Amino acid sequence: MIEFDNVTKQYDDGTVAIEDISFEVEEGTTTVLVGPSGCGKTTTMKLVNRLIEPTEGTVYFEGTDIEQKDEIELRRDVGYVIQEIGLFDHMTVRENVATVPKLKGWDDDRIRERVRELLELMDLPVEEYGDQHPTELSGGQRQRVGVARALAADPDVMLMDEPFGALDPITRAELQDEFLDIQAELDVTILFVTHSVEEALKMGDRIAIFDVGELVQYDTPQNVLENPKNDFVRDFIGQDRELKKLQVTPVRKVMYETNGERLPDVDPVAPSDTAQIALSRLLETDAGRLPVARDGEVVGVVEEADLRGTSDPTRGSI
Ligand SMILES: Nc1ncnc2c1ncn2[C@@H]1O[C@H](COP(=O)(O)OP(=O)(O)OP(=O)(O)O)[C@@H](O)[C@H]1O
Ligand SMILES: [Mg+2]
Repeated sequence: MIEFDNVTKQYDDGTVAIEDISFEVEEGTTTVLVGPSGCGKTTTMKLVNRLIEPTEGTVYFEGTDIEQKDEIELRRDVGYVIQEIGLFDHMTVRENVATVPKLKGWDDDRIRERVRELLELMDLPVEEYGDQHPTELSGGQRQRVGVARALAADPDVMLMDEPFGALDPITRAELQDEFLDIQAELDVTILFVTHSVEEALKMGDRIAIFDVGELVQYDTPQNVLENPKNDFVRDFIGQDRELKKLQVTPVRKVMYETNGERLPDVDPVAPSDTAQIALSRLLETDAGRLPVARDGEVVGVVEEADLRGTSDPTRGSI
C-alpha cells in the first residue's frame, strides 16, 4: 500500500536524515518505525503525506508515485497524529475532531455522531470535554484528542508519530489495546512511530528498526526477537528476549488442531491471547495443555513446548 523505494532525504542544511531506505507497508497492517532520537522516523512519516519531498528515490501510495497524487486529497485520506499533537487551540475539542469530516463535506448529523463515538472511545465524553479548548486539557488528554481527530474521517492510512508518548504506562497500555481492536475492526493501514521497543513489539505486524539514517532490520516482531540482525538490534531489544517473545506471540500462531481427542477440563484461552497468558494459565492448572476456544467453540489445543517455541518444528501447526 505504501512503498519506499531507495528513498534518501537530505535537508537544505545538508543533514541526511534517511539514506536509501526501502520497505513496504502492506494494506491492513501496522508497521512500526522504532529507533533512537534523530534517526529519521518523523522524516519518514512526513514523506508519506508529502509534507516533505524525497531527495532521491520514490514513495508509492497504492502503486502510484505520490508526487503524482493531489496533495490536498492525499492529506485528507491519510490520518496524521503529529509528534507535537498539533491541536488547534482556538477551536474546541469537538471542532478539532470534526476538522477533516467537515473538509470532506459530511453532513452535520454524521459528524456529530462520529465525534461523539470517537471521544467516547478515547474516554473523553463529549458532554464533558466537547466544548473545552485544548489548553484546558492535560497532555495525555490532548494526545487522545489528537488520535480521535486523526481517526475521524475513517482514513485508509494512519500516520501516528509517538501518539501515546505523553501517557502514563497504564493509560498507554489501555489505549494500545483499544487501538489494536480498532485496527482489527477498521482494517486501516498504520505507520506508527515509537521510541519504545515494547510498544513496537506489541503494536507492529512489522517493525522497522532504524539506526541513524539507516533501516537496519524490517521484520516481524517474532523474527526480530529470534534473529536480531546485528548487535545494534540486539542491544536495542535488550534483555529478556524469551519473555518478550511470549508477550508478542499470539496463541493462534502456535496452536494445532485437535482430532477430537479429550481435552483437559480447564478454562480455554483465546487464539488472540498471548503465549505469556497461556503459559501462566498452563502452569497454574497443571493440565499439560490447554484448549483454545473462539466464541465458546474449541478450535485447537496448545502445549507448553509450543508456547515456549521449543516444540519439534517438523510437526504441523496452524
Ligand atoms: N527541517 C529540518 N532541517 C534540517 N534538519 C532536519 C529537519 N528536520 C529534521 N532534521 C534532522 O534530520 C534528522 C532526523 O530527524 P527526525 O525528526 O526524522 O528524527 P526522529 O527519528 O523523528 O527523532 P525523534 O525520535 O527525536 O522524534 C535529525 O538529525 C534532525 O536534526
Ligand atoms: Mg520524531
